[in-house]
Parts: sequence; C-alpha cells; structure tokens
Amino acid sequence: MFDVIVIGGGAIGMTSAWRLAQTGRRVLLLERGQLGGEASSAAAGMLGAQLEVSEPGAFYQLCLESRALYAQFVDELFSCTGIDAQLSHNGILQMAFDATHVTALKSRMRWQIDHGARAEWLDADEVKRQEPLLAKAFGALLLPDDSNVNAPLLMRALAAAVKQICQVCEGSHVTDIEHEKTGDGYVVKTATGSYCGESVVVAAGAWSERLLEPFSTPCTIRPVKGQLAAIRPRQGLAIRHTIYSDHVYLVPKRDGTIVVGATEEREAGYNRDVTIDALTTLFTAVTRMAPGLRDAIFERTWMGLRPGSPNGQPWIGEVAGAPGLHVAVGHFRNGILLAPVTAKMVVQSVSREPWPARWQPFHVALKDQLQPR
Ligand code: GLY
Repeated sequence: MFDVIVIGGGAIGMTSAWRLAQTGRRVLLLERGQLGGEASSAAAGMLGAQLEVSEPGAFYQLCLESRALYAQFVDELFSCTGIDAQLSHNGILQMAFDATHVTALKSRMRWQIDHGARAEWLDADEVKRQEPLLAKAFGALLLPDDSNVNAPLLMRALAAAVKQICQVCEGSHVTDIEHEKTGDGYVVKTATGSYCGESVVVAAGAWSERLLEPFSTPCTIRPVKGQLAAIRPRQGLAIRHTIYSDHVYLVPKRDGTIVVGATEEREAGYNRDVTIDALTTLFTAVTRMAPGLRDAIFERTWMGLRPGSPNGQPWIGEVAGAPGLHVAVGHFRNGILLAPVTAKMVVQSVSREPWPARWQPFHVALKDQLQPR
C-alpha cells in the first residue's frame, strides 16, 4: 500500500510526486510512456505569468505566485540532480504591429502595474535598438520579470529527482481507478498490474478526463495540439528577449537556439503529425516579425498535446464525494509555469490542510465550477 499514487509523469505529476515524497510519504508515480515524454518536454518553457493572463484576478495571482517559486525550484533540482534547467531571466516583449495593439497592450500594462507587477512600454525606436532583428513595430510591452526555462532539461531534472525518492513505473498505462473494497483508499489498475494507494493524484495531462469519468468532477480536458520548431540564427545574430506576437513567439535558449511556437489546434484530437501547413504558418509569421532571422538555420520540429480546459485554468484538489482522490489537471498553456505552485496545492490537499482563500477558485470541488468557466 502506497501513501500516494500519482498518475502522470509530466511537469505537474513529477513536481507533485517529488514534493509529496519530500514530506516522508511513500509515493508511486505511474507514467503511461516515459517521464516528461509528452506536452511538458514539448513546451517552449516560457514562464509567462504576465503574458498569458488577460485580466487581473485569482489566475493572475496564481501565475505570479508560481513564477516567484521558480528560482528556488530550479536551484533545488540542480542541488539534487546536477541538472540545470537553465532558468533565463530574459523578459518578454509583447509586440504591437498596429495602433489597436498599442491601445490593448498599454491597457494591459496599466492594470499589471496597478496590481504590483513590473511592465514597461518601449517605443518603436527602443524596440529596434534592443532587438535589431525585428521588423519595425509600433512599440512593445516589456514584461521584464517573465522568464523561461529549458523544458526538456527541467523534465530530465525532475525525472532524476523523483527517481531518487519515489517508486517510478514508466510504460504503465492506467486503465481504471477504483475504490478499495475492504477499506479506505484506491486500487489503480494498469495493463501490467494493480497498485493500492491511500490517496491518488490524477495529473495525466490531456489523458486525464477518461480516468475521472467514474467520479463526479467538472473536469473536461481536451488535447490542444501545438506544433513547434527550433532554429539557430547565423553567427553573431541573436534575440535577447522572448518575442511574442498574436501569430508566433520566439524563445531564445541558452544553447543559442530559438524555439518557435506554437500552433493551437483544438480539432486535432490526439493526432501527432507535424505538418507543412503548420510550419509554413509559423515560419511565415517569423519572417514577418523578425526579418533578420530569415536566413536562420532550421534545426528540428516537434509537437505536444496541451491539456485544454474550457477557460485555460486548472482544477486542483480533492474530488467531492471521493475522499483521497485528488486532481491537478487542465493547466493548458501553463503547465511548466504552474508546476511549483500546483505541487504546493497538491501537498496541502493530500495533507488535508486548509487552502488559503487565493487558491479556492481553482478547487475542483467548488460548486460553480460544475459549469465550464
Ligand atoms: N505556453 C505557450 C504555449 O502553450 O504555446
């Protein structure tokens, strides 16, 4: 009997399993493929707490809270594993290519400053001075505290960390979660065996919904495919910031490559193709936004399946009517960013410690969440 069985070895599942095991619990982590093998490694690794949120409120605060945990998270993983997830405090430039964008981004800047974050308007000349490879813009919103990590390295670090203190089964496809008939807890069935756990945490990304079907939850989670590419600028050319427009984003990595992302495909289901059509769309947008990268060298492409929730926000906590069954699902575009705070929420949920009010809007058992938010 395990104290906790965590289902899903992505950013959310691994961070939760690691933090739960650090409290002294006996933790089993079940992953259907390889640890970090799905959306988490596919991520561009933006920690876009200010970028990804369109209004002030609980989700914005949650994103800021998680971003603030990142430096210590990455340091701690490095101390435990020797693997550096390459946190880069390079800031994000959100580009305005017309007057409407300027108005919208300046309004975003104002509410972000009003809510205690740093944000700064750069005029067209300043953008050109700081990022000479970009096309002439109307200006850009600089979010200096939004950063990025190398997601595949973060996954390698987390995988090494969990293997130190959790029991890990890769290639373990969970088919059912059932109440333990003779007492408290759950039986988690896989194609190759069954495991008993006092508590279960479902963190299976885009594969979570089917596992939760027997229970009463509001969690509707659909795969939202994203296709990405890596390019390498010619020698001597580089972008400093992450550059974000409505059509494409560019995330510079410490190895000198730039991650180009990403499509958002809601009708593709679990399809894993990387298509000419998607890459043409991305690269056309790159050459428009950053003509100085026109002769960059193409390196590789890949894709991932984001766990899409109706409003892009997660459900976390203990499922109503199923004591000991917890979820951490539906993180959509922000699984990497939200992993540290989600793991804290999961530990407090499994420990039955009350959550602070600021986390309550994400509780899976909240009644008004039974409707899509
Ligand atoms: N977080 C960026 C994306 O999901 O494309």
